[in-house]
Amino acid sequence: MKGHGVAGPSLALVKYWGKRSAEDNTPATGSLAVTLGTLESRTEVTWDDRDSVVVNGSPQPLERFAGFLGSLKAGLGVVDRGIAVTSVNNFPTAAGLASSSSGFAALAGAVAALAGVPVAPERLSALARLGSGSATRSVFGGFTVFDAGATQAVPEQDEGFWPGFRVVLAIVREEAKATSSRVAMETSRRTSPYYGPWVDTSPALLSSAREALAHRDWARLGPLVRQSYLRMFATMFTAEPPLLYWKPESLALIQALEALRAEGFTAWETMDAGPQVKIFCPEDQAGALVAELSRRVPEVRFLTAAPGPGLRTWREP
Ligand code: PMV
Repeated sequence: MKGHGVAGPSLALVKYWGKRSAEDNTPATGSLAVTLGTLESRTEVTWDDRDSVVVNGSPQPLERFAGFLGSLKAGLGVVDRGIAVTSVNNFPTAAGLASSSSGFAALAGAVAALAGVPVAPERLSALARLGSGSATRSVFGGFTVFDAGATQAVPEQDEGFWPGFRVVLAIVREEAKATSSRVAMETSRRTSPYYGPWVDTSPALLSSAREALAHRDWARLGPLVRQSYLRMFATMFTAEPPLLYWKPESLALIQALEALRAEGFTAWETMDAGPQVKIFCPEDQAGALVAELSRRVPEVRFLTAAPGPGLRTWREP
C-alpha cells in the first residue's frame, strides 16, 4: 500500500519571518502567499520497519524529519509504524524556492492518505506546520493567509481569482543554501535590533496587501511586496552573524527591475532565504520581462508559473 501527496511551493508576497513560539512553530508575523502551479513536490510513502527519507534520489539525515514524522504519526494515530518516504521536486531543492513548503505539505498529505484516515485540509495545514511554517500554506491553492500566532493557514482567494497573475522565478544559483530559514530567522530574532520593528509593523503591511490583492491592484500591491521582503532582509543583514543570502546577480536583477518599472513594466520582486529573485507580473508582460532580464543579467535561468492548486493526495492499494 502507498500514500501519495503532491503540492506546489508557497511563495510569500508578505513574509513570515520569526517564530512567536518555536515549540509550536507559530509565526511572529502574518504572511500572504500564493501557491504555485507547475512547480511541485511529489511524495510517496509506504510502511516500513523504520523511518527513512529520500529526496531527489538522495537519502536524507533523519534529524530534520524525525520530529515531524513523530508528530505526524501521533496526530494520525499510527505511532508504532515506520515510514519510508520518497520525494521528488521538479525544481531546485533548498535553494530559496520554497521546496520545504511543498515538501512538508506533500509529506503530511501522503502519510494521511497511507494511514487511511480522512483528514480535513484545515487539519492537514496544521500538521504540515510542524514541518515548516510555509508548508502550512501549501495545503491550500491560490492565495493564502497564515496569521501571526496561527496554527493553520486559511484560503484567501482561490486559484482562478486573478487569471493574469504570473510569477517569474529568476534562478541565480541552483545549489542548496548554507543556512536554513529556521536557523536564520532565529538568529534574526535573537540579534537584530530591527527584529522588533519588523514584527510591530507587519500587521499593517499585511492588511494593506490583503486589500490590494482583493482589488487585483498591482500599483498598490507591488510596493507592499517590496517593503515586506526588504524589511525582512533588514533583520538578516543586521543579525549577528549577518545573513547574506544575496549574490551579485540577485542585486543586478533587483536593479534591472527598478529600471524596467521606470520603462513601464508592472513587475515587483521578492526574495526568500536564498539568492533567487521571484517576480510578480501580469501574464501579458512575462515574456518581454524574461527577454529583458536575460539580456541585462546573463546566466540566470527563468521559470514562469501561475497560481496553482492545493495539496492533492491519494491512496494506492
Ligand atoms: O517555512 P520556513 O520555516 O522555512 O520559512 C519560510 C520563510 C520565508 O520563505 C523566508 C518567508 C515565507 O513567508 O515563506
